[in-house]
Amino acid sequence: MRMIELTQEDLKRCFSDNIFHQISETADKLGLECYVVGGYVRDLFLQRPSKDIDIVVVGSGIQMAEALAAQLGKEAHVSVFASFGTAQVKYRQTEVEFVGARKESYQHDSRKPIVEDGTLEDDQNRRDFTINALAVCLNKGRYGELADPFNGLEDLRQGNIRTPLDPDITFSDDPLRMMRCIRFATQLNFYIEEETFASIRHNKDRIQIISRERVADELNKILLSPVPSKGFVELDRSELLPLIFPELAALQGVEIMNGRAHKDNFYHTLEVVDNISKHTDNLWLRWAALLHDIGKPRVKRWESRIGWTFHNHNIIGERMIPDIFRRMKLPMNEKMKYVQKLVTLHMRPIIIADDVVTDSAIRRLLFEAGDDIDDLMLLCEADITSKNQIRKQRFLDNFKLVRQKLKDLEEKDRIRNFQPPVTGEEIMETFHLRPCREIGILKSAIKDAILDGVIPNEHEAAYVFMMDKAKEMGLKR
Ligand code: CTP
Repeated sequence: MRMIELTQEDLKRCFSDNIFHQISETADKLGLECYVVGGYVRDLFLQRPSKDIDIVVVGSGIQMAEALAAQLGKEAHVSVFASFGTAQVKYRQTEVEFVGARKESYQHDSRKPIVEDGTLEDDQNRRDFTINALAVCLNKGRYGELADPFNGLEDLRQGNIRTPLDPDITFSDDPLRMMRCIRFATQLNFYIEEETFASIRHNKDRIQIISRERVADELNKILLSPVPSKGFVELDRSELLPLIFPELAALQGVEIMNGRAHKDNFYHTLEVVDNISKHTDNLWLRWAALLHDIGKPRVKRWESRIGWTFHNHNIIGERMIPDIFRRMKLPMNEKMKYVQKLVTLHMRPIIIADDVVTDSAIRRLLFEAGDDIDDLMLLCEADITSKNQIRKQRFLDNFKLVRQKLKDLEEKDRIRNFQPPVTGEEIMETFHLRPCREIGILKSAIKDAILDGVIPNEHEAAYVFMMDKAKEMGLKR
């Protein structure tokens, strides 16, 4: 991520929106120093889309927010969070967060009101990273002036992440910052300065006091970064990984038996995640890539005739997912089911591609994957990380064939959203049956006949097939 240089004149232009001038006027009226601070300023230099506006006031942020809302009139809504010493003003599409400059540490769960008795620099000191401590003045005489006491701009230029204070202090103020540090390094492709990194390692156990939702939120942001592996490698190097995601950490390592090694499933997984990230922004598909081999450590075996095996690791992986999602407070709804489905099915396309690609295997794959077939194919292609170029190419060629057949067969047989061409009711009416197991047997025989290509996916053919099958079973009309 490259930054651009902005002069005070440029910055003035960046803050030319009416809302900034209104803030400026209010602050001047109250005689308070007032600055835009944090991510908003950082993202201007990085040309990233800006989000919420954070304002730090040398004085009371709440007083400032209330005065601004009064000045803006009916369209402005102010919410005060007295125990945090902050207030938010919503005006049209914009949200502005106000905080008084603080000397005290950053306190998340404190019930005591926060004392707003600091200078701007006190406040900047208490922020997480130098690149997040840049402030731009909004008072009239100094409009657009940058306050950068820790050389945050130089760190942006160099691509460095560093804490303004001794990192042990910054991280113990809020241990989530250790995750944020790695997350920013991943999102921005920045380098974590050595002392800062060493401190994460040193303070890693403090992550346990942070709520799981907040940790998961950072993990999701890492996973949504352009090259997510960077974040997971840093989580591993800092030794945070086993604390927040032991199942992923357990994928690590290579064992050798009789001179035969298996691949390191951690690095393989990261490669798959990076591969898929080139093709999709779908967070849950990226999660599926992260978890596709999660069951491997639990089923790993050495079999003298075959070598290393990981039988049924997909099924075991699928079963591990609810525990992981529950613990991380990730949604346990259809998103999780989708991840489970992809993990269970992740080897199917490759098994097909490794063999003669039969129509019936393809129809069965379509039947099971349904509308997620395209995502499953992406996952499976991303999973080919073989260093053997010839082998890799053979798979990719066969995949093309699988994709083509998927297309042809779907056009012909419409298996994706399979609806039985003969319904249970029709079977009951035809043979004067009450609900019983024969109906299930007939239905699945029809389904199998269609998937195996014995009959087309049509009512008439299915009806004739059903009559024959019923006769065999001794059913009468
Ligand atoms: N901040 C901090 N410590 C935290 C969280 C936030 O010091 N644990 C400060 C930083 O100065 C940060 C600002 O509060 O820039 C705003 O926080 P937030 O909106 O969470 O982060 P952004 O930096 O805006 O980035 P993102 O929205 O990507 O999280």
